[in-house]
Amino acid sequence: MAFLVEFIKHPRTIGAVAPSGKSLSLKMMEPIDFLSANVIVEYGPGPGSFTKELVGRRQEGTTLILIDQNKNFCEQLEKRFGEEQDVYVIHGSAEDVNRYLKEYGFDHADFIISGLPFTSLPKSVSSNILEATKKALGEKGQFSTFQYSLVKKSFFEEHFEITDILHEKKNLPPAHILVMRNKRD
Ligand SMILES: C[S@@+](CC[C@H](N)C(=O)[O-])C[C@H]1O[C@@H](n2cnc3c(N)ncnc32)[C@H](O)[C@@H]1O
Repeated sequence: MAFLVEFIKHPRTIGAVAPSGKSLSLKMMEPIDFLSANVIVEYGPGPGSFTKELVGRRQEGTTLILIDQNKNFCEQLEKRFGEEQDVYVIHGSAEDVNRYLKEYGFDHADFIISGLPFTSLPKSVSSNILEATKKALGEKGQFSTFQYSLVKKSFFEEHFEITDILHEKKNLPPAHILVMRNKRD
């Protein structure tokens, strides 16, 4: 209910009427190499469906940076995960990911996982986020985002190389997960 209220207040930035379910949350974990990840960033965690899985799977010492621009969701995240070691909740925009990484002592992220509603965000905001993400990934980082349709695939391809597309049919609606990295020459 709290999620629906936030959607009614901010339809473009919330972009969905309910949080992602368990099957999609589990599928989102598949591309992540938890053994080697030193720092993982999550964009738009909302109340924390993916965060719960990230926290449960990460190695001891792996830093998790959660960035959401919704104050109520940040408060919920603080309550759920604020006691966890090396988990940082940031009330801010994914556009500023590089500043946040620097604040916590990192040059780049090993993995960035996104729950952002790219289809409803203003195009300029999406472009800013993808440009910032390119820088944040450096040479080796990976970026994944879920989409309910592949209409935006070419938009992501303008910025990244898509290395894999996973499908989660059990989710309502069924979802696609784009796995990306920076283009190589
Ligand atoms: C559809 S909800 C996803 C929540 C959760 N990841 C899930 O799948 O259930 C989108 C989230 O993105 C957040 N958001 C939208 N624009 C953002 C931005 N520029 N920076 C960070 N978070 C943003 C919203 O506040 C919201 O929590």
